Amino acid sequence: MRTSFISALGLYAVLIGCGVFFGGVEFGDSTPMKGQPYRTAYHFQPPKNCINDPNGPMYYKGIYHLFYQYNPNGPLWNMKTTWAHSISYDLINWVHLDHALNPTHPYDINGCWSGSITILPGDKPAILYTGKDRETHESQNLAIPKNLSDPLLIEWVKSAHNPIMTPADDIGPLFFRDPTTAWQGPDKRWRVIIGSQINGHGTAILYTSEDFVNWTRSESPLYSSNRTGMWECPDFYPVSVKGIGKGRETKYVLKASLPGFNLQDHYVMGNYDPQTDIYVVDADFMDSALQLRYDYGRFYGSKSFLDSGKDRRVLWGWIEETDSKSADIEKGWSGLQSFPRTVSISKSGKQLTQWPIKEIEKLRSEEVNIHDTELEGGSVLEVVGITASQADVEVSFVLPNIEEAEMIEQNLVDPQLLCSKNQASVKGLVGPFGLLVLASKDLTEQTAIFFRIFRSHSKYVVLMCGDQSRSSLTYDVEKTTYGAFVDVDPASETISLRSLIDHSIVESFGGGGVTCITGRVYPKLAIDNEAHLYVFNNGTQSVKISKLSAWSMKEAQFVQYRNEENLFSNYDEQQRKILFENF
Ligand SMILES: *[C@@H]1O[C@H](CO)[C@@H](O)[C@H](O)[C@H]1NC(C)=O
Ligand SMILES: *[C@@H]1O[C@H](CO)[C@@H](O)[C@H](O)[C@H]1NC(C)=O
Ligand SMILES: *[C@@H]1O[C@H](CO)[C@@H](O)[C@H](O)[C@H]1NC(C)=O
Ligand SMILES: *[C@@H]1O[C@H](CO)[C@@H](O)[C@H](O)[C@H]1NC(C)=O
Repeated sequence: MRTSFISALGLYAVLIGCGVFFGGVEFGDSTPMKGQPYRTAYHFQPPKNCINDPNGPMYYKGIYHLFYQYNPNGPLWNMKTTWAHSISYDLINWVHLDHALNPTHPYDINGCWSGSITILPGDKPAILYTGKDRETHESQNLAIPKNLSDPLLIEWVKSAHNPIMTPADDIGPLFFRDPTTAWQGPDKRWRVIIGSQINGHGTAILYTSEDFVNWTRSESPLYSSNRTGMWECPDFYPVSVKGIGKGRETKYVLKASLPGFNLQDHYVMGNYDPQTDIYVVDADFMDSALQLRYDYGRFYGSKSFLDSGKDRRVLWGWIEETDSKSADIEKGWSGLQSFPRTVSISKSGKQLTQWPIKEIEKLRSEEVNIHDTELEGGSVLEVVGITASQADVEVSFVLPNIEEAEMIEQNLVDPQLLCSKNQASVKGLVGPFGLLVLASKDLTEQTAIFFRIFRSHSKYVVLMCGDQSRSSLTYDVEKTTYGAFVDVDPASETISLRSLIDHSIVESFGGGGVTCITGRVYPKLAIDNEAHLYVFNNGTQSVKISKLSAWSMKEAQFVQYRNEENLFSNYDEQQRKILFENF
């Protein structure tokens, strides 16, 4: 891996005609590696090695911070993770800083695992994170910035009181992790929840504290569910339901990452009483008709934060590789973060809507549009004029003949199984229709994101699928077909799809973001300029594209900050403008 990494670096240095180091900024190994078709251009990635969960995202004094689980020693996951740290002014372009937390103490010698940041009164950020000791037993720990006057918050110090929360007897020492951002109740005590399992049931253990150091476990957990096992990376936050809910203005979302369910992030919504800490959910995990999940593809260990500058909630999720370990070793890296998404309540009030943050529009360059175009059954239309391997596409469809849709018994079918049986290559009546992305010219390779419409009793049912079965000629990569229902009514509204395509990742938002499916694909033919984008309809009924817009996307800028040197010296003026326009 080292050899190929150095050669990729060497090639880049030749291409740009200069050395690898530009004064304070290390350039060469942080831009997309040339000759690496799966390296992404606008999704967050460090220069190399393995990353997983996003940790402690925050907006602080005009700067966005993202910490994340990182193995500094190689491209595969290792328990002894550090908290890597990057900053940004726009959540698009990033400066990678020195690591904020390394395994240094007996309580975290086997890794500084996931956690969150809380901004305490007086604008003082505090990290709560999970440490793993020599026996790999878990505890919660506190760290604060070494120098609050440093605007970048580069150095962090661990509290002398650590560990500040250790598991009681009813909690296994291996099932106690990932503290949330804390919140203050009306009694001014801080509250935080920790992911756990008790008697095999997923649980959010509640702790309270007056001073953020001395924590007391509450008698009752915030919530627990016997439909799930261990919870990792819980998240708990309010969403505004103004104009939707009856009476109430706020609902609370509780998210749990479920390692026992093939790494899925599920959520529930409910009412929380901050006086009593009683949380009553509308429906339990996996118990609503919609089987609420952030994403029905690859998306895990996610974490949201309140972006106080723009009054919105922003969500990050870890997107893992689905290629082989040997491929990761050869690439020198594995894992990336989803594009940041805003989270809000859906129109129906029954679920969340996610949408790429608006700042993404800064990356758009060439644009093509298609209006009011009928797609007959069996047609495939190429979208030309943009870079199809690095694009943002939005399309909406009108369906003139849905009365013809096939019947299903919605309550009895698993949407993912339905998608697997009815892949894009299986013709239906209304659908499959949608996009073929990262496709080769002859369509041997293609990733299909599409819809099918069914009838179930008196209503229509929209199914969204991510079919990767023909995504690559390579054998040893995963080619799962994902699927979920989309809570929209095709009789009264258009069916929309947006896909962010970035070399080896396809993040798709159906029905305006009520259903998301993210996939990793590793085409052999459809790479870089050989990738094509199509819109297709393989149903017998025709559908109409009411509007399609697609954009080529520019590369986001990622640079490496060198602590010992001056960040600004010899820094390319254009890059500096992009990164530091607000500095
Ligand atoms: C704290 O950071 C400020 C701003 O970067 C710097 O001027 C000051 O010297 C730092 N203090 C210490 C004790 O390092
Ligand atoms: C910690 O907090 C609990 C509950 O508030 C209190 O009873 C206890 O005395 C505190 N311990 C210390 C060492 O401050
Ligand atoms: C699971 O919990 C629910 C309510 O919390 C209860 O009604 C149900 O009986 C439990 N099921 C099992 C199998 O324990
Ligand atoms: C459309 O269906 C036909 C026949 O089932 C299949 O051969 C073809 O691959 C499908 N087209 C797409 C774009 O999936």
